[in-house]
Amino acid sequence: MKVTVVGAGAVGASCAEYIAIKDFASEVVLLDIKEGYAEGKAMDLMQTASLNGFDTKITGSTSDYSKTAGSDIAVITSGIPRKPGMTREELIGINAGIVKSVAASLVEHSPNVILIVVSNPMDTMTYLAHKVTGLPKNRIIGMGGALDSARFKYRLAEALEAPISDVDGMVIGGHSDKGMVPLTRLATRNSVPASEFLSEERLQQVLEDTKVGGATLTKLLGTSAWYAPGAAVSGLVQAIACDQKKIFPCSTLLDGEYGLSDLCIGVPVVLGRNGIEKIVEINLSDAEKAHLEESAAGVKKTNSLI
Ligand code: LAC
Repeated sequence: MKVTVVGAGAVGASCAEYIAIKDFASEVVLLDIKEGYAEGKAMDLMQTASLNGFDTKITGSTSDYSKTAGSDIAVITSGIPRKPGMTREELIGINAGIVKSVAASLVEHSPNVILIVVSNPMDTMTYLAHKVTGLPKNRIIGMGGALDSARFKYRLAEALEAPISDVDGMVIGGHSDKGMVPLTRLATRNSVPASEFLSEERLQQVLEDTKVGGATLTKLLGTSAWYAPGAAVSGLVQAIACDQKKIFPCSTLLDGEYGLSDLCIGVPVVLGRNGIEKIVEINLSDAEKAHLEESAAGVKKTNSLI
């Protein structure tokens, strides 16, 4: 199992680190346009191998895509991150050009690759990856929902005063402050609906805090977050590499599912060795459907800019 991670910035490096620590891939190739940067990160990470107990081989290269040849999975994190006060959508101009050339180069060297897109605005970049590569829809996955759901669970656990392992919840919709649709109705604490423990107002607060999860961190850190994004990507990579058939909300090209088409947006999917093996259509309430439709309209508006 060979995994390429393009972009050795904080998200890409965290992603490589978590993949290595989970020790399921034989090789991780890190790529970055900044001279020497990916080599340095790879070497530093390799020097943690004996300490953290993994055998995954991590190598780095400055934009030599021949080193990525034969990758089973490639993660695109390249592009500029947002600064405090910026929306993900504002990154489109620069990031669209980067994602276009990165996706094309990856597929040229690894025709069977499964792409995971992390660069923002992520749903639009995932759609762009389709346009550029023409890969089948099961092989292009946008990472947003797994991260947003992790942030949702963090906020739920906080509100419930419960351990995180006791809570479950999922966020669908676009990966944007306005577009996220945290499914509070389906959130649970050990299979008991969260609404049995929390007032409507408290659940609404959880929802609002979740939607601005990335923006809150950007404000605190001065740049976009990396630990949770890296961990979320590593979860998707592991589900594919180990053929786990796990359900994650991911951005995927819709063709009538949820009454939507010709866009990529977050919905629950089953991830296995073939990438997106199934789009899971759950019954949404009228309010949830309306939120998803509103979110889709926002994503389409951003798509019109590429
Ligand atoms: C975030 C970026 C990865 O939400 O979109 O932190």
